[in-house]
Amino acid sequence: MNKWTRVKFQPNLPLKESGRVTASKEHIQLSKEAAREGMVLLKNENHLLPLAEGTRIALFGKGSFDYVKGGGGSGDVMVSYVHNLYDGLKMQKNAVQIYEPLSAFYKADIQHQYEKGAVPGMTVEPELTAELADGAKAFADVALVVISRFSGEGWDRSSVECSNEFNPWDNETTMPKISAEVFPDGDFYLTAREKAMLAMVKERFENIAVVLNIGGVIDLSWIKNDDQIGAALLGWQGGMEGGLAMAELLTGKDNPSGKLVDTFAASADDYPSTANFHESFDYVNYTEDIYVGYRYFETIPGAQEKVVYPFGYGLSYTTFALDTTAMWETKDHIFAEIQVTNTGDMAGKEVVQLYFEAPQGLLKKPSRQLATFAKTRLLQPGETQLIRLSFAKADMASYDDLGKIQKSAYILEKGTYKFFIGTSVRNTEEGIQTMELSHNIITRQLTAHMVPSSLKERMLSDGTFEALPQTQCNDMNQCVFEKMIPGTEEGITPGIRGCAHGALFDNYGKKQFIDVAEGKLSLDDFMEQLSDDDLIHLLGGQPNMGVANTFGFGNLPDYGVPSIMTADGPAGLRISGDCVINTTAWPCATLLACTWNPTLVQQVGQAGAKEVKENNIAVWLTPAVNIHRNPLCGRNFEYYSEDPLIAGKMGAAMVKGIQSQHIGASVKHFAANNKETNRKHCDSRVSERALREIYLKGFEIIVKESQPWTIMSSYNAINGHRASENHELLEDILRGEWGFEGMVTTDWWTRGEHYKEIKAGNDVKMGTGFPERVKKAMEMGQLGRAELKHCARRVLELILKID
Ligand code: BGC
Repeated sequence: MNKWTRVKFQPNLPLKESGRVTASKEHIQLSKEAAREGMVLLKNENHLLPLAEGTRIALFGKGSFDYVKGGGGSGDVMVSYVHNLYDGLKMQKNAVQIYEPLSAFYKADIQHQYEKGAVPGMTVEPELTAELADGAKAFADVALVVISRFSGEGWDRSSVECSNEFNPWDNETTMPKISAEVFPDGDFYLTAREKAMLAMVKERFENIAVVLNIGGVIDLSWIKNDDQIGAALLGWQGGMEGGLAMAELLTGKDNPSGKLVDTFAASADDYPSTANFHESFDYVNYTEDIYVGYRYFETIPGAQEKVVYPFGYGLSYTTFALDTTAMWETKDHIFAEIQVTNTGDMAGKEVVQLYFEAPQGLLKKPSRQLATFAKTRLLQPGETQLIRLSFAKADMASYDDLGKIQKSAYILEKGTYKFFIGTSVRNTEEGIQTMELSHNIITRQLTAHMVPSSLKERMLSDGTFEALPQTQCNDMNQCVFEKMIPGTEEGITPGIRGCAHGALFDNYGKKQFIDVAEGKLSLDDFMEQLSDDDLIHLLGGQPNMGVANTFGFGNLPDYGVPSIMTADGPAGLRISGDCVINTTAWPCATLLACTWNPTLVQQVGQAGAKEVKENNIAVWLTPAVNIHRNPLCGRNFEYYSEDPLIAGKMGAAMVKGIQSQHIGASVKHFAANNKETNRKHCDSRVSERALREIYLKGFEIIVKESQPWTIMSSYNAINGHRASENHELLEDILRGEWGFEGMVTTDWWTRGEHYKEIKAGNDVKMGTGFPERVKKAMEMGQLGRAELKHCARRVLELILKID
């Protein structure tokens, strides 16, 4: 195919000679394999799992039918089918026998609730009768209790809704209402009906296993602390084949090897960020600072006992022994060699995790931080694999934002650095070597950026708070002319651009973009001919073509600049449901992260990108890598982890996989987009240290390891500046410090002002630009041609990368 044939002509051509890759058997198989690898075995007493062949089981809970493949919003995917747990178990031939009357009851109830408009996961647990439960007891030896949960974009996992502005999509605000009805105490906890069902099961069964089909953290203390519950499998939201993947693990067709990437505590209030999560619609104070997730629970006095299942935790049907045989350091790196032996009687994989503890010093630190990790290959019983780990010493440095030692520098403070090697943040042994520093080392001297003005205090490692300097707040709505009424820009779609008269037959001697692609013309020469209007045109989203429904870039037909299309999202290629093309729904991002297997994540990225390409789309709006700051965030299912190293490594693997197909990845949402309620106005107030060590870190790793072609700035403001209007974020840090070479887009229909976004280095405004407003700002002397060219150039460079 010639360059840009797909994007220009939208041919209906499959990628393989033998047929389409989109939703192909191979891709669906990979989706299932990834799902199996990221599911986490939480408990398994007396070898209750895997279920012995022929076990008679009863499936309790509407979750056995009400399967949630992933979350809602732009991270949803149109599929031809999903397999729930019941389907999955039935597909295991004669592996188990199911008590059908009970399943028939749940099936009918769920069908009825769906018919009445309920979405999967937002259904009510039906009331179980004693007769059905007795019948189940008479038939079955093992009870499987299935719990499912759903959340989505535009709302958080609570009943709080914000309707502060005009909203053309009223369903964005009704979900909190539904949530209030279905989960009166919050979906973090079991509902009264779920508790009643569980009690009836416990009255009747000795062997109880729980299966969790959830997209984020919930209370699991009722599993851990109850001896009557023998086993639990955290199946996450596993994509279209999640139920089948769960069934294959439950019946022992495969061995679980997923590990948690978040800390599970018993109460939502155990997370320090919950107290002020809904304090205001307008701002969130990140007072817990760098003490997010296990950095909080493992460090702050009294927090350890709140943990139900720790970060990194996950069981297997087999057992492993770890033996650190060597550790050494060079000038810049730490190395470790660990022998991992499968000491049980089933083939399986283990994850080796290396944490460090830096000296408290003046800056104070979390007592554990993940430095590196590796997963073994499938080890047969008795087999050993030597795992080699290494990481840069500089990665252990802390950022001194207040100048306690040296302002705006990353510093390795003097003292002893200890290492902990094991299979979760708790289950470790101290390394056979430490690193001793006799003096402080500055690893990087930076400049202060994105400094908070109104965050009053932040947590320290002993649980006390230190006061932060207060300065004048920025007025984020300042604008040289009147701003649009918030919400009126929502959903405006870009106009279609026509060619000049006769251009169909003759381009009137205009220099053509294909000549740049073919090396016959420099990009500078090509751009010289573009008028200011042409340049401004390039800085806004372009109309949908083909099956796209999230708009595109480019589209200067007179100059042969094609229109290249975008599509969501992290769980798979999402295209308009009306075009009747189903795609592969991959497991949710959190499950993918729980594989601790970047190679597998890269394969998912590669396969997903092929579907993107086959459908003539050029940029895939994935991965989403925001930190799981708080379990209430409605979009956590789309994000990887509470830990920035995991988020960064998984995101980088995904980008590598996608871009290996010459499809652009769009890493989002940059940055500190950790709450959905009022997401277009909410100000994340966060210290520069927490930004750099936690919230920006994943993006930094991705940029440095995989150089994504695009990054999507987030809706929210950070320390009083909208992300899309933030020069320090987009130019000084992203491009200046990290060396990002790609293009930045806004998120779709931000409340940012277009001219301010251009000035900040946010190259394209999506879904549409506002050319007249940009022109007006130019007339008022706010913006010059040089700034337009700067951004337009990056749009053209992106298009040049597309096949
Ligand atoms: C979401 C993005 C998504 C975009 C396009 C926005 O509402 O926040 O994640 O990529 O829409 O659908």
